[in-house]
Amino acid sequence: MKSAEIRKAFLNFFEERGHTLVPSSSLVPENDPTLLFTNAGMVPFKDVFLGRDQRPYVRATSAQRCVRAGGKHNDLDNVGYTARHHTFFEMLGNFSFGDYFKREAIQYAWSFLTEVLQLPAEKLWVTVHHSDDEAADIWINEIGVPAERLARLDEDNFWQMGDTGPCGPCSEVFYDHGPDVFGGPPGSPDEDGDRYIEIWNLVFMQYDRDSAGTLHPLPSPSIDTGMGLERMAAVVQGVHSNYEIDLFVNLIKAAARATGQSDLDQPSLRVIADHIRSCAFLIVDGVLPSNEGRGYVLRRIIRRAVRHGHKLGAREPFFHQLVAALDDEMGQAYPALHERAAQIEKILLREEEQFARTLDHGMRLLEEALGNLAGNTLDGGTIFKLYDTYGFPFDLTADIVRERGVELDEQGFESELEAQRERARAASRFGADYGSEISIAGRTEFTGYDQLEDEAEIVALLDEHGASCEELKAGQEGTIVLSRTPFYAESGGQVGDRGLLENDEARFEVRDTQKQDEHHLHGGHLKMGVLRVGDRVKPTVTAERREAVMRNHSATHLLHEALRRVLGDHVQQKGSLVGPDRLRFDFSHFEAISPEALAQVESMVNAEIMADTPVTTRQMSLDEARNLGARALFEARYGEDVRVLTMGTSDFSIELCGGTHVARTGQIGPFHLVAESGVAAGVRRIEAVTGKAALTYFHEQEQRLNALAEQLRSRPDQLESRLDSVLERNRELERELSQLRGKLASRAGNDLVGEATEVAGVRVIARRLEGVGAKELRGMLDQLKQKLGSGVVVLGVAGDDKVNLVAGVTKDLTDRLSAGDLINVVAGQVGGRGGGRADMAQAGGSNPSALPQALDSVAEWVESQLRQG
Ligand code: ALA
Repeated sequence: MKSAEIRKAFLNFFEERGHTLVPSSSLVPENDPTLLFTNAGMVPFKDVFLGRDQRPYVRATSAQRCVRAGGKHNDLDNVGYTARHHTFFEMLGNFSFGDYFKREAIQYAWSFLTEVLQLPAEKLWVTVHHSDDEAADIWINEIGVPAERLARLDEDNFWQMGDTGPCGPCSEVFYDHGPDVFGGPPGSPDEDGDRYIEIWNLVFMQYDRDSAGTLHPLPSPSIDTGMGLERMAAVVQGVHSNYEIDLFVNLIKAAARATGQSDLDQPSLRVIADHIRSCAFLIVDGVLPSNEGRGYVLRRIIRRAVRHGHKLGAREPFFHQLVAALDDEMGQAYPALHERAAQIEKILLREEEQFARTLDHGMRLLEEALGNLAGNTLDGGTIFKLYDTYGFPFDLTADIVRERGVELDEQGFESELEAQRERARAASRFGADYGSEISIAGRTEFTGYDQLEDEAEIVALLDEHGASCEELKAGQEGTIVLSRTPFYAESGGQVGDRGLLENDEARFEVRDTQKQDEHHLHGGHLKMGVLRVGDRVKPTVTAERREAVMRNHSATHLLHEALRRVLGDHVQQKGSLVGPDRLRFDFSHFEAISPEALAQVESMVNAEIMADTPVTTRQMSLDEARNLGARALFEARYGEDVRVLTMGTSDFSIELCGGTHVARTGQIGPFHLVAESGVAAGVRRIEAVTGKAALTYFHEQEQRLNALAEQLRSRPDQLESRLDSVLERNRELERELSQLRGKLASRAGNDLVGEATEVAGVRVIARRLEGVGAKELRGMLDQLKQKLGSGVVVLGVAGDDKVNLVAGVTKDLTDRLSAGDLINVVAGQVGGRGGGRADMAQAGGSNPSALPQALDSVAEWVESQLRQG
């Protein structure tokens, strides 16, 4: 029987017995925040068990898709290590809501197993809760299971869907795969082996567990059963591993093809085949890879699959290719999978590409750490670095090091994580360094999101020393606090506003606005008049500067998102400075960014600007913002409600932000990257300009080009060819020069041979030359040696404050005279040192005026050497 046939037989069996067939629900439980994923067939019926929901039926049956990863029932870590665990599986179940109870549930199960599937009774074992005499009695006395094949267990036979919710004692049916497979019967020390496999769980639902752990009886005893389709298929198809059933065989082959693997027994292929099912179905049900919640579980599964492919040698994206094979196997039973196959492929491909960028680097770091391991535990710092910089989820690292039998310092990792959160919190906290000790009641109302002028009352004044005072006089420096203000106070990287606070008598120039607690502090200078607490003023923000700041701030959001899309999701904001002239954005990334990637980022941002979409802000709870996938700076702690800023096509960027922004992206104007650099290990910095500053930048560049063109007597559009010809001419001249020098040298050489003196039968030339480069010197030396046939040559050239020397001895003399020794004697006299072989040596010196005398000493030295010899 194929898997599909077993599914059908099961549902038919229970339909025939008065059960309503209920289609599979989504993997994302509806309205149930206590649960990450639908992890059992009973999940969609939770409220029915609890008596909160009424259905037109009291008996139901379903084939429910389930994911057990990341939540209470988490099998992710077991996949690849056992024959029977999956992240995704189908659970066949029958349910009774206050209708039948233990007896019928047990009888139905037995008859389906032994009559419909025709499993031999002697292969079946059962367990009951140790207190459940009733169920034990039914199994032994009514069904006829021998007492020695029934075990009474404790927690294994009490099932609950989560920390809270419906639960009750249960009875499980096991299948004995036979003595060829290792393992012991349930309740024995070897029960974890693969021989006795649980195939069906009958839960006698009787309680609702509350968050304090107390059990409350359900309105009426109910039945929830669950049979893993894949396990049952393994039994029926006579194979020991779920991965050998019809459903998986083709997926494993497809995984082998996609990773270029020929050995179908590789455990990594099973992991990949398992993971494609959970990933594809999670995406079908609306989960997208992200860094939080369900999305992060999905991402972890994808990365685990990609890593296993990498282990098999795959270096190109492969995982998405398996969607087609999965569609072949399951698309008919799940039409939504078939319809969305292309989209699933795209999402997976993008994830793969992103992770591929850091996987190699991360693996190298990990291999190195494992290679240098002292002891048997991988330190928390390395695990954290892999997580933070290379996007290795903790369980991914765990999966890898487990293969090497190495332990992980999970606590160390957790404390690194906490330290990072603390640093982030500290970085986002506002530290006012003036007016530090003031305490003012109330708060400043900020009105500057959509206006730059206002009317307000002075609620506090600080003098130039930051001390509270009653009035400020003309000429005085000070700080003013208003009841309300359109002045943005520096925070979140955005600089504080400048402008004027005025009334008929007084005029205060604001140089900077800072925040302290809930107050905006306007720091500056009183140009004229007197200002007292209680006076009314008209605050006006310098519009041009603020608008430039807003352009840069909005552009920073677009840049952030573009970087993530181009470089990968490991890109996290590490800091930013948004001023009127330029913006600066620091983020986590492990290497310099290629010019191509930078160009891609820049054009992505400009495309969003040109699309000219509205920038919208909404207040919402942090949870709602998370569900939207909003990015939060520094993982800062926000109050109850947060401000969520959305901009760009298809909500390109969604970020929590308190800053001020343009109304439409088009107002940002041109966006241009001006610098990319590293600021710390794993942190890069990008600087960019927008709007008028970008235009100024372009104009300056243009002027520079014009000036250069003029200097080269050309035009900007011909600059390249002009420069090419100048450089070419330059090379020509250099060639000519060097030829001429060579000729000169050779002519000088001829003259020099004639000048040779004889010292004890050896011809010696020691000469100072003019206008010869250090390079030509060597050539001349060789020529002279050749022309002499036998002899000693020393040549020197003097520059302004340096000397170049070469010395040569012809081969026939090197047993008696060494050029290396000779050069040292000469160089020593011109303030230098040298070295070389017996036939050739070079040296430099710093005292040109001593050169003639030094050269004169050559003959003497030769004579003394020969005499000694
Ligand atoms: N809800 C029960 C289980 O998941 C049947 O095992």
